[in-house]
Amino acid sequence: MKSVFGDVERTFGQINVLVNNAGISGANKPTHEVSEEEWDKLMAVNVKGVFFCTKHVIPCMKRAGAGSIINLSSIYGIVGAGDVPPYHASKGAVRLMTKNDALIYAADKIRVNSIHPGFIWTPMVETFASDKGAVDEVRKQIDALHPLGHIGEPDDIGWAVVFLASDEAKFITGSELIIDGGYTAK
Ligand SMILES: NC(=O)c1ccc[n+]([C@@H]2O[C@H](COP(=O)([O-])OP(=O)(O)OC[C@H]3O[C@@H](n4cnc5c(N)ncnc54)[C@H](O)[C@@H]3O)[C@@H](O)[C@H]2O)c1
Repeated sequence: MKSVFGDVERTFGQINVLVNNAGISGANKPTHEVSEEEWDKLMAVNVKGVFFCTKHVIPCMKRAGAGSIINLSSIYGIVGAGDVPPYHASKGAVRLMTKNDALIYAADKIRVNSIHPGFIWTPMVETFASDKGAVDEVRKQIDALHPLGHIGEPDDIGWAVVFLASDEAKFITGSELIIDGGYTAK
C-alpha cells in the first residue's frame, strides 16, 4: 500500500485526493450464523482497507500541504435494515473513523468526509438482487424503498465525490453526506 502511494506521488508530483471506495457486502445471514472468517474478511476490506489507505496517504497529503479524503460508508452505517450484519458494522465504523480523522488532520488542512448512499444500481446491488430472486422484480422492490421512487445511479454519488474533493467544499470536514432518495428521512 505504502509503495502504491509512493508510485502515485512520484508519477503525479503530489496527492491531494483519496476516495476510499472499495467494499464488499459480505455474508447476508443473521448475526448468530455469521462465522469469524466471514466477519474478518468483510472487516479486512471495508474497514482495514480504509485504515491502510488513510494511514499511507496522510504523509503524502502533508507534503502536498492539503488534502481531501472521501470515505464510502452507506445508509447502512446510519440505520439498521435487518440484514448483512458485518456490512452494517463496517459502515458504522467508517462513519466514525471519518469524523475522528477529520479532527486529527484538520490542522494539516486535510478534510475527511463520508458519503452514505442509498441503493445504487451497481454490480454489488445486481448480485444482491439476483441472490434474492428475479432481478427485475427485486429491483422494483428496491425502487420502492426510496421515497423518490427509484434506485440511484453511480453518477448520483460520483458528483458528490467531485464536490467534496474540490475547493468548493473547503469548509466541509467531518460531515456525512446522505444521498439516498429520502430513504433515511423517515
Ligand atoms: N451500490 C450501493 O447500493 C451502495 C450503497 C451504499 C454504499 N455503497 C458502497 O459504495 C462502494 C462502492 O460500491 P459498489 O456498489 O460500486 O460496489 P461494486 O461491487 O460494484 O464495486 C466495488 C469495487 O470494490 C473493489 N474491491 C472489492 N474488494 C477489493 C479489495 N480487497 N481490494 C481492492 N478493491 C476491491 C471491486 O473490485 C469493485 O471495483 C462500497 O464501499 C459500497 O459498500 C454502495
